[in-house]
Amino acid sequence: MKITFYGHACFGIEVAGKHLLFDPFITGNELAKDVDIETIPADYILLSHGHEDHVLDAEVIAKRTGAKIVATFEIVTWYGAKGIDGHPMNIGGAWTFPFGKVKMVNAIHSSVLPDGTYGGNPGGFVVETAEGNFYYAGDTALTIDMKMIPITCAPLDFAILPIGDNFTMGLEDAAIAADWVEAKNVIAGHYDTFGYIVVDKDEARKAFAKRSQKLTFLNIGASIDVKDL
Ligand code: NI
Ligand code: MN
Repeated sequence: MKITFYGHACFGIEVAGKHLLFDPFITGNELAKDVDIETIPADYILLSHGHEDHVLDAEVIAKRTGAKIVATFEIVTWYGAKGIDGHPMNIGGAWTFPFGKVKMVNAIHSSVLPDGTYGGNPGGFVVETAEGNFYYAGDTALTIDMKMIPITCAPLDFAILPIGDNFTMGLEDAAIAADWVEAKNVIAGHYDTFGYIVVDKDEARKAFAKRSQKLTFLNIGASIDVKDL
């Protein structure tokens, strides 16, 4: 399983020969200006919620690649009207795809699409595959619901958590979240893109190290194998 960071909350995961792309927001991200969206592979585009900093480039990438949108019923319906294929889900539901099982889990946030259309509830995803299991939290506060993940899902190899504060968990809460979902390896997301969410990376690593967790910051455009986390 290979993990690639495209900036902000956008990650590509290559697993079982398929390319999963989470929350593509690249052309609007000055920090990701060296990423060419025309070269990003995608078979499935998973969207945690409808905010522009999570969906901006989904339409263009889906149309080029033919990728399926995996998101709430409301978001999939919105993309369906643009001629894009999708798989609708909702919180608490799981579906087995060719690459593995995806469960949509709760997130405490909001969700409206760029034109004001209601996006349903915001969510996160737990993905279980033969090559590893992970939790992609989306935008969320720390929520007690995270404690259900180790009970209802397979043990995690890593979690991708927002750490930027202001709009989501900050690093102290995110370290507690890692405890609750029982992830020793965390990949940082949702930081530095805007002035409100700039983080001190050393301070962030320390907050996780205090709980015997490893926090990884990937450079934009860089990849890592799950075995190397
Ligand atoms: Ni958001
Ligand atoms: Mn966001």
